[in-house]
This record gives sequence, C-alpha cells and structure tokens, in this order.
Amino acid sequence: MNYQEILNTIQSELYHIKSNGKVASYIPELAKIKPDKFGMHLYCINSGHYNFGDDTERFSIQSISKVFALTIAMSLLDDTLFDRVGVEPSGDPFNSLVQLEHENGIPRNPFINAGALVISDILISELKNPKKDFLHFIHTITNDNTITINPQVYASEKSNSYRNAAVLNFMKSFGNIKNDIDTVLDFYIYQCAIEMSCEELSTAFMIYANGGKKLFDNQTIIAPEKIKRINAIMQTCGFYDEAGEFSFRVGLPGKSGVGGGIVAIHPEQYAVTVWSPPLNPKGNSELGMYALERLTTLTGYSIF
Ligand code: DON
Repeated sequence: MNYQEILNTIQSELYHIKSNGKVASYIPELAKIKPDKFGMHLYCINSGHYNFGDDTERFSIQSISKVFALTIAMSLLDDTLFDRVGVEPSGDPFNSLVQLEHENGIPRNPFINAGALVISDILISELKNPKKDFLHFIHTITNDNTITINPQVYASEKSNSYRNAAVLNFMKSFGNIKNDIDTVLDFYIYQCAIEMSCEELSTAFMIYANGGKKLFDNQTIIAPEKIKRINAIMQTCGFYDEAGEFSFRVGLPGKSGVGGGIVAIHPEQYAVTVWSPPLNPKGNSELGMYALERLTTLTGYSIF
C-alpha cells in the first residue's frame, strides 16, 4: 500500500474544501489556536511513518486522554470497574447530564465526560501519584519523556469547569464518586491539558493496533483481551452522539478531542492521527473526519 501517495492525495483535496467548523471556545485558551492548522500522521506496523502538514506540532489532546485513562484503569482493575461505568453508546453530547438521573449516576461509557470523571476518581484511588503516573504511562508508550501539559490550557479549563463540576456533584449524590470533587476535577483537567503531536499520538496508539504491545520494543502494556474491549468502546462510543456517523463514514475505532485531534486505528495495520482545530456541531474535527473518510475509501480497507 502506498500510504504516502494516499496522504498526498488527501492533502491536495483539503486545499479545495472549506470548513464550516468552529474552534472550541468554551475553554478560552483553545480559541487561540490557528484554525488553518492541519496535520496527519499514519504509523504502519509493517512499513513505518507517513505524514504531511503540521504533524509534529503539539496540540491539546483533551478527550483523547480518556483512552489512556481507561487503559490504565483496566490494567489495574478487574471487571468490577464496569459496575461503575457502562459500555453503551450514549447518543447524547459529551458533556450531557440527562441520562445520569435515570441511571443511578452510572455513566453510559468511559468516553463521555461523566464516564471519564468516574475513571479519574478510580485512578485517584488506585495510583500513588496520579498526575505523575499518568504522564509516565504516556512517556512509556511513546518513548518520549518531554510530553507534558500546557499550563495555560489547564488553568483556562480550571476556571471554566462548571459543567464538569455539576456532573461530578450529581454522580457523588448517587455514591459513584469516592474522592473529593475538586481533587477529581483537577486531575481530569490535568490529563485533558496534555499536549502531543499527531506523530506522538500515532506512536502511542500503536498499542491498540498491535494487540497491547509497543512496536518499538515489543513490551506488553496491556493484555490483548483488554485491547479488544478498549477498541470496541472506541468504535461504539469514541465520538459521542456522532459515533454512528464516524463508523458509517470512516469504519475504524477512534477517539476525538475538542483540541481538534482524532486518532483512529486499524487493528494489525496502523494507527493514524489527524489534527484540524475547527469542530463540527458535535465537537469533532470536521476536516479530520473528512481526511479519515478519504483514507479508508482510498485504501479500500476499514474494519468492515
Ligand atoms: O471536559 C471537557 O469538556 C474537555 N476537557 C474535553 C472534552 C472533549 O475533548 C470532547 N471531545 N470531543
């Protein structure tokens, strides 16, 4: 497969496409990102790296961090984890509260904000030094210990986190948050403020394409049967109320973030990341979705 030729085709198509998307502004610091940034990086298990554009520039990974958080939690706990968070698509926006009221404060899945906040609560209970250990996990799977948070983005979300504070308080009233609310919120915002490039995310997500093993040294990070489950949750819940649309158009498990990044994996083939800050109304990168749709169309392969 000539991936570089396919990426070059996608890059030239993008010149002719006008995005109607809007850069996220509810976290004020994210509104400062230039909307015309675009990067794409595909890391193939068999043949290495392919890329174009701003693929080495770091951006705010935001909700993409929820995949790492779930992975750490699943490597520490058994299936009792899923007593506190479900594995069903929500069909609602990422920051919605409505289902929690009828469902005893148990979030539908770990990738909506409510579910990720429960995972943060679990990690605070389980890890000695949650922030340090979280960064250490990312350093391990990327082999790069320079990856860290953007302090301005962290501070910006901290002063605008009324919705997530409400979600946490609501879940605590059902007994599904064990630790102090401010501590959980702070840790969650910290993990969202991590910055990585498309190249670094594709390297990190290789563990999901490669049965739980790092490609560069073959070290097992998490058991293959757990990877199967994480990929299934990415497929069904990675894009909130647009998970069906992403499956329909792209056909790969993936995860988006309001920083404009999307990572997708083709099991046993590749991990691919796109970054384009303008978001569609569901909070997913508009041109990112376009680029990934073209990738699976031009290669002729998705998981379906
Ligand atoms: O909690 C929030 O609202 C953000 N820190 C993350 C949301 C997000 O990335 C949703 N993704 N598309």
